Amino acid sequence: MTIEADPTITRPRIFSGIQPSGAPHIGNDLGAIRNYVKLQHEYEAIYCIVDYHALTSLHDPERLRRQTLEMAAALLALGLDPERCTLFVQSHRPEHTELAWLLMTVTPVSWLERTPTYKEKKASQPDDVNHGLLTYPVLQAADIVMYKASLVPVGKDQAAHLELSREIVRAFNARYGDTFPEPLAVHTESPIVLGTDGIRKMSKSIGNTIDIFAPEDVLRKQIMSMVTDTQRILRTDPGRPEVCNVCQLHRPYSADFERIWEGERTARTGCVDTKKLLLARILEHYAEPRARYAELMDDPDGVDRILADGAERIRPMAQATMTEVREKMGLR
Ligand code: TRP
Repeated sequence: MTIEADPTITRPRIFSGIQPSGAPHIGNDLGAIRNYVKLQHEYEAIYCIVDYHALTSLHDPERLRRQTLEMAAALLALGLDPERCTLFVQSHRPEHTELAWLLMTVTPVSWLERTPTYKEKKASQPDDVNHGLLTYPVLQAADIVMYKASLVPVGKDQAAHLELSREIVRAFNARYGDTFPEPLAVHTESPIVLGTDGIRKMSKSIGNTIDIFAPEDVLRKQIMSMVTDTQRILRTDPGRPEVCNVCQLHRPYSADFERIWEGERTARTGCVDTKKLLLARILEHYAEPRARYAELMDDPDGVDRILADGAERIRPMAQATMTEVREKMGLR
């Protein structure tokens, strides 16, 4: 059910940040974006493409610029409605870095050093352990508290970051008086989407994705190369939909997935049939977003205008927070 926009009803505010990882794959949609689209009807939603955060791992200016545009166009194509929610780019509201600095002064280094993502990044990019990696969660806390958001829809992988945000808020409030609400993570019950290898989580860095906005022949290659039930050797062997990733992906895209599973179990259908059908269903599901994405990518200035509007709309909120915080901290 969706609640119609009614200016007399104030809805709780949610905030979420999205990495500018370029055009998303179906794992991004099923895991997060779909949920963002739904939540914009129920909450006052603010969504931010976190390009400052991206700079901690991505040092290719052209790529960052392109991927930010692609992510924005994709979010709009998939249903984020600028009339319903606010979509903006983090660096367009430079208050975020200022607030991050101020929050750093209440954050012990030891909290940051023990953050799991920091340890992972240190291992995965040992030649680039830049300071931004350590400070990353403080900037994330600043994103959230800038708008005093109480709820943060994120994947389970963000649980430690959210816990840290809460600790930073408590530290700030204890020292300078009650200022920010402690943000609460809302984890959606979306199962982990496995990649085309059928083993690891779908991820761009692994290269096991099914890309929503890729040309049809690329999508066909990605889906037809998927690993299925590895114990099903002969076409006449019965399939096991529970362990077959192709069957599992029919669940979100095929209303009749149970019938499809039955076909596999009885070996009436083979893996190739089921893959072809998945391709057809995914193309059907994303037909409109794919067309809209192409239009948006043809008009980058139009996308930039929407992003600029978003950043402008929340300017008063950001400025009010900064005024309050500067005052409380004793800055003249
Ligand atoms: N760290 C988050 C991620 O990697 C992105 C993010 C940045 C974020 N700022 C945020 C998420 C604020 C929620 C709230 O996905």
